[in-house]
Amino acid sequence: MKKKTIRDVEVRGKRVLLRVDYNVQVVDGRVVDDMRLTESLPTIRALRDAGACIVICSHLGRPKGVEASLSNAPIARHLTNLLGVPVQTAKDCIGDEVEALTRTMNPGDILMLENVRFHDEEEENDEAFSAALAKLGDIYVNDAFGTAHRAHASTVGVTKHLPAYAGLLLEREVDYLSRVTEAPERPFGIILGGSKVSDKIGILENLVENADVICIGGAIANTFLKARGIDVADSLVENEGLAGARYIMALAEHRGGIEIVLPSDVVVAFGGADAEHVRTVSVAQIPVNWRVLDIGAGTVQAFATALRPTKTVVWNGPVGLFERAPFDRGSLAVARIVGELNATTVVGGGETAAVVRRAGVTDRISHISTGGGASLSMLQGKSLPAVDALLDA
Ligand code: 3PG
Repeated sequence: MKKKTIRDVEVRGKRVLLRVDYNVQVVDGRVVDDMRLTESLPTIRALRDAGACIVICSHLGRPKGVEASLSNAPIARHLTNLLGVPVQTAKDCIGDEVEALTRTMNPGDILMLENVRFHDEEEENDEAFSAALAKLGDIYVNDAFGTAHRAHASTVGVTKHLPAYAGLLLEREVDYLSRVTEAPERPFGIILGGSKVSDKIGILENLVENADVICIGGAIANTFLKARGIDVADSLVENEGLAGARYIMALAEHRGGIEIVLPSDVVVAFGGADAEHVRTVSVAQIPVNWRVLDIGAGTVQAFATALRPTKTVVWNGPVGLFERAPFDRGSLAVARIVGELNATTVVGGGETAAVVRRAGVTDRISHISTGGGASLSMLQGKSLPAVDALLDA
């Protein structure tokens, strides 16, 4: 990474304003999925071991003003359990009272600020608000990769007032995603799923130059199939994406040597999709009024064969309606295929990370990104404002 990190600065006795992305699901006061917390622990531990006073700042959800249900308090409790050391909480994220609290901290102490989005000025990247946040630290560390595509006060504005360094998670994320986007070891495979064709076309446009294999599933495959003249019946299709799909297929053909693997068989459903109304059919025989909800076993096999020789693989988006059994089978099978590859494997996006976890192959993936929108931006070749704002190495 071409930015300064926490390894480049002496933090002993200093107040470190640490921006993390703990924007996680909280249900009945409990954190449901704590990946974003566990992945930030190496940075917190490194700062503690080095004697920093750690002031943690995060947003949660998209509140309109103060909303009690989006308080950071349950997250602070969860973090206390993970770290085994107390995490104090502040009632706000700016102000004299909070600043006074930070001045009484001892090396190793941790204070979590209240949801930074309780103030509209955060998302407005307001100058005065950024300056008020900056009063809570002597240096600033950004480990919030998931929010790095947002130019907000706590991710960009604050860096005008404090020397700004990358945390270890942010560094790891940027390193892995750059490896995929800049110089992947070939053969390079891309697996795309999900439903937003426009997002995925951006990824393909950016990565197609180095690609050897492109496997497409999920709802976006319907758009690609339709673009190839296949009748996908009642399936979800993004008609505005048809031109983009045709463009990518033409680009791949023009460049040559790129294998695009589209579904050859699919799991289709009708009406309420009870067992009687779920079938696997060839894409040439999708019944009228039925809709595609997953890839079939033949397609899984074709993906496995095409991906086997790859040395780098990036996967973004489930290949079926993963949240509803039995339409999760294709995605789980793809996760197992990726887990078995002898390649650098990078998985981006919250849903895809969840698939990998459910398939039990987390340990077999080189890197699972904590960022949805941020990893999408990087895969599309866009720069991340919060990373750009950090000190150059
Ligand atoms: C995310 O979960 O993608 C990030 O925390 C950014 O959240 P936002 O889309 O509400 O800005």
